[in-house]
Amino acid sequence: MLQDPLTLRSGVVLPNRVALAAMTNGQSQADGLLGDDELNWLESRAIGGYGLIATCAAYVARDGKAWDGELGVDRDECLPGLTRLATVIRKHGSVGMVQLFHGGVRATQRLSGEPVWSASMWQEDTKDFETPRVATEADILRTIESFAAAAERCEKAGFQGVELHGAHGYLITQFLSPVTNTRTDDWGGDNAGRARFAREIMRAVKKRTSTKFSVGIRLSLEHGGHAKGLDLDESLQVASWLAEDGADFIHASLWRAENMTRKRPTEHPIPLVRAALPKDVALIVAGNIWTYEDAQLAMERGADVVALARPAIPNPEWPKLAKPGFKPNTLPKTPAELAAVGISPTFLGYLRSFKNVVAE
Ligand SMILES: Cc1cc2nc3c(=O)[nH]c(=O)nc-3n(C[C@H](O)[C@H](O)[C@H](O)COP(=O)(O)O)c2cc1C
Repeated sequence: MLQDPLTLRSGVVLPNRVALAAMTNGQSQADGLLGDDELNWLESRAIGGYGLIATCAAYVARDGKAWDGELGVDRDECLPGLTRLATVIRKHGSVGMVQLFHGGVRATQRLSGEPVWSASMWQEDTKDFETPRVATEADILRTIESFAAAAERCEKAGFQGVELHGAHGYLITQFLSPVTNTRTDDWGGDNAGRARFAREIMRAVKKRTSTKFSVGIRLSLEHGGHAKGLDLDESLQVASWLAEDGADFIHASLWRAENMTRKRPTEHPIPLVRAALPKDVALIVAGNIWTYEDAQLAMERGADVVALARPAIPNPEWPKLAKPGFKPNTLPKTPAELAAVGISPTFLGYLRSFKNVVAE
């Protein structure tokens, strides 16, 4: 049942099975310190009953910063803001987790002041693409340490966990994919070599945080969008390895949770991920889950928690209202309607880059 609590491996108890999925919103300050609009947005969804609140993707190191107004977790100066945010989320009974992020080639020199780097060098014929420099061993080790230090900071601030952003073609995916990782050293090659970066981050973060702190990872499973070249079976193996390394949860980012896998159109991805994981590792699933029935179906297929991103925008209280036959508010909405559900002008600006969200 959606309303049932869930105890994670760490002992952290989610009050229900509905999460707010990470959503970048540009509402932090130019230097990465927490902005009030960011706090108000997340607080409003904690009040609305979302049991798990993931923050926007937050950069663990300046050279991984990808967006204007992105939240930073890269230095101790961020602690007071992070503490305010963690305290507010907890006050309303939700479990707060920071999404730890490094953009790799999707970061930008405009914001970081440094040339972008990635697992390997490759070219892409897209607007704003910055050709990456190839990661040195020192870059890799420094970044693993940045993830660990950021997680430690989040725990200090009072968050109950972190979600590593291993999906959607950012740095961790850039290492996982054979298309963007053509290295011939121990950080590339076969699936085990390509997964090493993600696994070392998982292990370092687990080691640096207490056993009561939850650490999970968000993964894309198959080729799509910026997540280039991912293979379903390799991703299932990666999920299983990360569980071995101590992950409390795996978050499968599906975009359309109703769809069968691309590789084997007769098989649905949710039971496959579930089968790849030990029973005590929670499976979170996101993508186009709007109705109570959508959520139930995902859970019947094996999800422990459903995560909502766009549906959470016009439905601040979705978790409180969801029941059979519940008709959620839909998108697009006008700027005035979005303002009425807590979308600031800055967030509105970012939402305009998504189709079918803002009605002009
Ligand atoms: C405005 C916006 C910002 C997003 N930012 C992030 C992000 O920071 N990290 C992430 O993992 N996914 C991000 N996503 C993807 C969502 O978390 C989610 O996986 C995707 O939108 C599909 O779920 P939905 O159909 O519930 O929106 C973003 C999506 C939207 C619409």
